[in-house]
Formats: sequence, C-alpha cells, structure tokens
Amino acid sequence: MKQVIALVFLAVLCAQALKSGPERKVPSGRIVNGTTVAIENYPFIVRVYVYNFFICAGSIITSKHAVSAAQCFAFKPNPVTVSLVGGSTRQNDGGVDFRIRSYVLHPKYDPSVMDYDVAVVTIETTFDGHDNIGSIKLQTMELTYSPARPTWCYVAGWGSKNGQTKISSENLQLVWMQVVSQYSCAIAWAPFEITSRMVCTQLPNADACYGDSGGPLVCNDQLTGVVIGGDVNCAGQYPVIFTKIASNNVRSFINETRAVPGMRIVGGQDADIRDHKHMLLLKIDGIPICGAIVISNSSALTAAHCVYPQVDLQTVTLHGGSSTQNGMNVTFYAASIKIHPNYDEASTHNDVAIIDIQGTFGNHPNISAIALQNTDPIISAGKPIMCYATGWGLTNRKNRTIPQKLQIGYLQLIPQKTCRAQWFSSTITTSMICAKGDATDTCAGDSGGPLVCEGRLYGIVSWGTGNCNGSKPAVFAKIPASIIRSFIFSNTGI
Ligand SMILES: *[C@@H]1O[C@H](CO)[C@@H](O)[C@H](O)[C@H]1NC(C)=O
Ligand SMILES: *[C@@H]1O[C@H](CO)[C@@H](O)[C@H](O)[C@H]1NC(C)=O
Ligand SMILES: *[C@@H]1O[C@H](CO)[C@@H](O)[C@H](O)[C@H]1NC(C)=O
Ligand SMILES: *[C@@H]1O[C@H](CO)[C@@H](O)[C@H](O)[C@H]1NC(C)=O
Ligand SMILES: *[C@@H]1O[C@H](CO)[C@@H](O)[C@H](O)[C@H]1NC(C)=O
Ligand SMILES: *[C@@H]1O[C@H](CO)[C@@H](O)[C@H](O)[C@H]1NC(C)=O
Ligand SMILES: *[C@@H]1O[C@H](CO)[C@@H](O)[C@H](O)[C@H]1NC(C)=O
Repeated sequence: MKQVIALVFLAVLCAQALKSGPERKVPSGRIVNGTTVAIENYPFIVRVYVYNFFICAGSIITSKHAVSAAQCFAFKPNPVTVSLVGGSTRQNDGGVDFRIRSYVLHPKYDPSVMDYDVAVVTIETTFDGHDNIGSIKLQTMELTYSPARPTWCYVAGWGSKNGQTKISSENLQLVWMQVVSQYSCAIAWAPFEITSRMVCTQLPNADACYGDSGGPLVCNDQLTGVVIGGDVNCAGQYPVIFTKIASNNVRSFINETRAVPGMRIVGGQDADIRDHKHMLLLKIDGIPICGAIVISNSSALTAAHCVYPQVDLQTVTLHGGSSTQNGMNVTFYAASIKIHPNYDEASTHNDVAIIDIQGTFGNHPNISAIALQNTDPIISAGKPIMCYATGWGLTNRKNRTIPQKLQIGYLQLIPQKTCRAQWFSSTITTSMICAKGDATDTCAGDSGGPLVCEGRLYGIVSWGTGNCNGSKPAVFAKIPASIIRSFIFSNTGI
C-alpha cells in the first residue's frame, strides 16, 4: 500500500517506534540506486545534526544561510543543539561544524499535509573561507514539464542506507531523476494532495529515502527543490516530492528570512554623544557586540539576541559617555541580565533584555536615561512620526576593527499593516515596530541600539534586510507593546 512519508531521519525512528502497522513495510535503501560523489563538486550540500544525531540535509544559499525542510525542525530543537556540517563527502571524516544562530520555519508550514515544508537556517559565523563549502543559486523560474524534452535533475544526500538498522549512508549519494508533471504526480499520490508549492521527480528504481529530507533537488545548477518525502518503501514506485523553491510563497519567505539582525547605519551622519546620552556600547569579552540604552541610573536595555543564550555576567561590560568607541573610558559591569521570558529566537519575537549594572550611570555628565514611550503611536500619512537610530556601526560579532564615531540615521515610523505587506506578513509580530529610512537609505543601527521618536524610546534595533539600501523597513522591538512594556516595568519599576 502506498504511503507518503516525510524523510526526516528522526521521524523514521519515532514513527517506527510508535506504530508498526501491518501494512507498513520496512524501508530500504538510501538515495536508491545513486552513486557516491565527492563534496568538491557539490560544496553547497550540508548535513543537519541535532545533538550530534544526523537528521537531514540542507543547501547553503548565502555566506550565513542554508535552506532545509521545516519537518527537520518541527519538534523545535533548541538552536544550540543544532549544527550544520559541510565540506566532507563522508560523514565520519572531516568537514566543518557550524553552530547555528536560529532557524525559521515557513509560517504556513503544515506537517499534516506537508505543505510549505521549508526552513531557513542562519549560522553564527560564516560559510566563507572553507574548502569545499560554497553556495548554490536559487531556481528563479517554474520548470515547465514537457514529455518531449524531459528535465533531468539530481537529488543528493546521506539518507539511510539500510532500513532495518537505520544507519544513514556514510558517503554522499547522488541520483538523477526526471521532473514529472504536477498532474501525474497528483494522480500517483491521490488522495494525498500535491499543492502548487510542490514539485515531483521520478525514475523507476531511483528514490530518495530516510535522512534525505531537506536535501537539494538541483536542475540546471540551481536549487529547485527541497526533499519533503516519498514512498514508505523507497523503491522508486512513486514520485519523490519536493518543496518548490520557485513558488512565489516559498521564494518570498526565503528572501525575507535571509534578513539579518541589526545592520549598521548606512548613509548616516556623525553624532555627538551629548545629544544621545542614553547611548551605550555593549561588549562581551571586550569585543564590541551591540548597542544598549540607559533607562535609569541602574538599568539599560538591549536586544535579547545580543545576550542570548544567556551570556556569562562576568564577560559583559557597558561603555558610554563618548562619541567615539576608543574615547570611552567609563566601564560599567553587569549585575544581572534578564532576557524577555517570551523571547523567541526563531522569530525574534520580544527581542529585549534588561541589564542591571553595579553602581550607577548617574555620575557621568555624558550619560543619562531616556524616557520610554508608553502608548501605541498613531501613525497617519498626514502626521508622520520622524525618528532616528544611533549606533557605532558594528556589523559583525567578530569585527575587532578600531571603533568609529557614533552615527545617526533618520527614519519614519510606518504602520504595522504596511510593514507586514512589505515583509512576509507573519514575521512582523505584535511586539515589533517598523521604520523606514528616507532617500538616503538609512537602515537600522547596531542591534540593541535605540529608535528614538518625539524624544522618547520607541524601539530597540532588532533586525532588517541584509542589503540595507532601504528596500524594506527596519524592524525594532516595540517598547509600547504591552508584553514588552510590562516586562520592563515589572523588572525595573520604570
Ligand atoms: C537499481 O536499478 C536497477 C535497474 O536500473 C534495478 O534492477 C535494481 O533493482 C535497482 N536497485 C534498487 C535497490 O532499486
Ligand atoms: C527574491 O529575491 C530575488 C533576488 O533578490 C528577486 O529576483 C525575486 O524577485 C525575489 N522573489 C520574491 C518572490 O520576492
Ligand atoms: C562628553 O562628550 C564630549 C563630546 O564627545 C567630550 O568632549 C567630553 O570630554 C565628554 N565628557 C566627559 C566627562 O567625558
Ligand atoms: C575620561 O573620563 C573622565 C571623567 O570620568 C573625563 O574627565 C575625561 O574627559 C574622559 N576622557 C575621555 C578621553 O573621554
Ligand atoms: C541618578 O543619579 C544621580 C547622581 O547620583 C542623581 O542626582 C539622580 O537623582 C539619580 N536619578 C534617579 C532617578 O534616581
Ligand atoms: C569591520 O568593520 C569595518 C568598519 O565598519 C569594515 O570595513 C570591515 O569590513 C569589517 N570587517 C568584517 C570582517 O566585518
Ligand atoms: C538594493 O537592493 C536590491 C534588492 O536586493 C538590489 O537588487 C540592489 O542592487 C540594491 N541597490 C543598491 C544601490 O545597493
């Protein structure tokens, strides 16, 4: 009996353990009837591990991002337990381990029907500069199926080699398959629904199998699909199903989750600390990491993602009172760090943390608190709200270059609805507020830095586009959002 099944490795273990119905045959094979290939020629393929268990494959698409299947992360593993390994053909020989910063599932991902089965993973460091590791371009066009001119594509991965012992393949396997029409795939799989977010391939005796989920379908050297699932028998009897990269809904999700935290001010101007006395620099282990904001004599705010997962208190210092980073000779030590209890790393929901210091900010002429905005701003076309963001232009956790002068960039608040329309709608949560730069294309400042409107703190720099050229609004943690405002109040009395 045919049965479509997700090819995530953990799912096999769980599914097999939970139910071994009489009609469920034991899966066999890896990428069935594939050949071993060298990673040198497929440097974009990575393995996904959770707690050092191999579960899926993925494809590198930028120096910081990889695409995989949502099913691989559906059980919500803590990001610190997930890693990507690239650059090696063999599972147990070489390769580079990349810790991840976050993963984001397509907001419409529905495991019950395997629709929108795509996820974007962001790593902590960069894929650049390693042997046999590189990215692949995304497919831009919908493939047109024509029986006269078949499209040949390949699927590759380290999927299970032996269904009985559930051991994944040691070597990278690759098999060529032919794209089949949406119609014939739908007929083959009915009543399982093949949606417009899916693309299928088939070749008798060739198949994808357990552990291949998240891996690439490559047509004309472009990433065209992400392995979702196939037949329980892995015998090439039914088409393999992939998430279709060129589908608008999938592509725009990938485009937009490639957004990066923070981003420095572009096209900004030099600023004087005496006009921004609330502005602090946050260092971890002496390395400038983020901005922070003085809100009382003893407390500062920053973005949760700057100190998440909870960093060691001893390593955190705050610096202020000077326009230039190297002019700062006042150091404050952290007494406590409280990350918003509902901070969600994957969506950056509630991206706020409170740092209480030892001593006081109150004794320095160039340091003082800024008032918080308490009510939701009413944004109307007739009465725009002008704001600014400030920062020292930190772009990179690892960037140890000599500090710059404080920069200021001007932005205008934009309504939630407009922001949702410009980003992927569900990525803009109720705890976020958006602002857009003018023609000079200001984007957000350093993560954790302030968005100041009408003299009060409206937001904390959270995330934005990678290219910072004003194409999309910058996104801030929203101070007047009740879930954020009450967190600040209950912890600081402010
Ligand atoms: C591999 O393909 C050949 C024919 O091309 C077929 O006879 C054989 O059964 C296939 N092997 C598997 C494991 O499907
Ligand atoms: C995604 O980005 C690419 C390149 O920046 C662009 O060509 C494409 O139109 C975008 N697609 C969608 C659906 O936003
Ligand atoms: C305050 O800032 C100004 C401008 O950067 C600087 O000249 C002055 O030395 C600072 N004051 C102190 C006490 O650091
Ligand atoms: C260092 O701090 C002292 C007082 O705290 C101030 O007088 C002095 O101007 C500061 N130096 C610089 C270079 O900012
Ligand atoms: C902050 O500290 C300064 C200097 O110690 C003091 O004058 C001021 O009243 C304090 N502000 C608050 C709100 O406690
Ligand atoms: C570090 O920052 C400087 C100044 O912004 C920039 O020119 C340089 O490219 C950055 N280096 C890295 C590795 O990001
Ligand atoms: C702005 O961003 C778009 C979309 O990624 C890109 O195509 C364009 O080259 C960028 N413009 C500049 C001036 O960087």
